Amino acid sequence: MADLSVNLGGISSPNPFWLASAPPTNSGYQVMKAFDQGWGGAVWKTLGVPVVNVSSRYGAVNYRDIRMMGFNNIELITDRPLKDNLKEIEEVKKYFPEHAVIASLMVESREEWHQIVKDVENAGADGLELNFGCPHGMCERGMGSAVGQEPNVLETITSWVKEVAHTPVIVKLTPNITDITEPALAAHKGKADAISLINTIQSLVGVDIDQMVPYPIVDGKSTNGGYCGPAVKPIAQNMVKNCAQLEYGRLPISGIGGIENWRDVVEYLLLGATNVQVCTAVMHYGFGIVRDLESGLQQYMKDKGFQTVNEMVGKALGNVTSWENLNLKYKIVAEIHQEKCIECQLCYTACEDGAHQAIGLSEKSRIPYIIEENCVGCNLCSLVCPVEECITMERRDNGQEQITWKERTENGTIPTTFNDPLAGGRDHWVPDPKDAFNKE
Ligand SMILES: Cc1cc2nc3c(=O)[nH]c(=O)nc-3n(C[C@H](O)[C@H](O)[C@H](O)COP(=O)(O)O)c2cc1C
Repeated sequence: MADLSVNLGGISSPNPFWLASAPPTNSGYQVMKAFDQGWGGAVWKTLGVPVVNVSSRYGAVNYRDIRMMGFNNIELITDRPLKDNLKEIEEVKKYFPEHAVIASLMVESREEWHQIVKDVENAGADGLELNFGCPHGMCERGMGSAVGQEPNVLETITSWVKEVAHTPVIVKLTPNITDITEPALAAHKGKADAISLINTIQSLVGVDIDQMVPYPIVDGKSTNGGYCGPAVKPIAQNMVKNCAQLEYGRLPISGIGGIENWRDVVEYLLLGATNVQVCTAVMHYGFGIVRDLESGLQQYMKDKGFQTVNEMVGKALGNVTSWENLNLKYKIVAEIHQEKCIECQLCYTACEDGAHQAIGLSEKSRIPYIIEENCVGCNLCSLVCPVEECITMERRDNGQEQITWKERTENGTIPTTFNDPLAGGRDHWVPDPKDAFNKE
């Protein structure tokens, strides 16, 4: 078995799977239950001056039959008394000394920061996570993302914490900013030991069109919330990559956002995260998902010959470059595997109306065919095709750069009109009419 233990900026844990600060880490009961099931660390639900939370609190984007593809919340920090949380942190550490318990914190003044750092460290927390990311409710009070959006303020508060902290300090970043590397560098200047990202993205997840109120509804009114879950993974991964590629001021990274299965974990590690944190997937499916995370990661490491998690960290970064470094002479074209085609013709419609008219239909068969000379290798047909491996992209380099649109010519090599019955009988131009609708 590979060694799954990790060390994030001085905080060690038996595996890279941590619970993010959120409802699943609201109490000692939950954290101990999660550790029993295999989670290696937990970032406690943010502590500070306890708030009163609203009812209702959550909304979701359900995409077709996938529920909670995007998840939205208007919940603030903990509403439980600090002394209860401290007592439970102490209990958890007594039963699970090897696991990582990180206290997420959010207060205002320097004195309050100093006091709460001492309190949670006395209770036995292994590290601190500064919540500079919450984009609703707390930011209007000058905390959360209001700090994460001001690199100077972020640096100042981080250095206040570092004045008294004896355990490693993780700065949790907000994605509600143009360039994520600015607060990441400010965290480095403030002497943080690591960063974690992302917190939630400011959002509205739809409107009740009868009541004319966005979701979630609190007595006929609503407010913007924070978006997370599978929908945010692409945004989070790009930000993790940007922070991991910093040449100067790079800090160890805890990757967060839309993680649901072991593949997501592997992706974050390859993009430069030392470990990961999960919230929405646990709120959806429970603590038990850690079994898939662990067995999947173990199998992947075995297949690829990795002995430790650390060996994997950042392995994809060298393959992420800027656009101008991409090979313009690389050429792929689509191939339709006829035996797998279910004749839905989604590829034809997508390519015909939404891309490059590189798929034709014949009168003899409902199976579309590729017009290779028009295919720019954009992938669209293979993305819309509902059958796995029915359309594959095949390499066809010819040593030349590819041109998306051939020039319209007068000499007849590229015909200028084609009457498409689906276009209301109007003549319109396509690259090659005989191929686009092969009448043979
Ligand atoms: C209901 C809810 C409450 C949350 N509360 C906190 C919090 O108290 N502190 C914090 O730093 N992040 C909080 N978050 C953000 C998560 O820790 C995490 O950064 C975000 O949800 C992205 O991860 P995910 O896509 O796995 O959910 C909360 C998220 C949700 C959904």
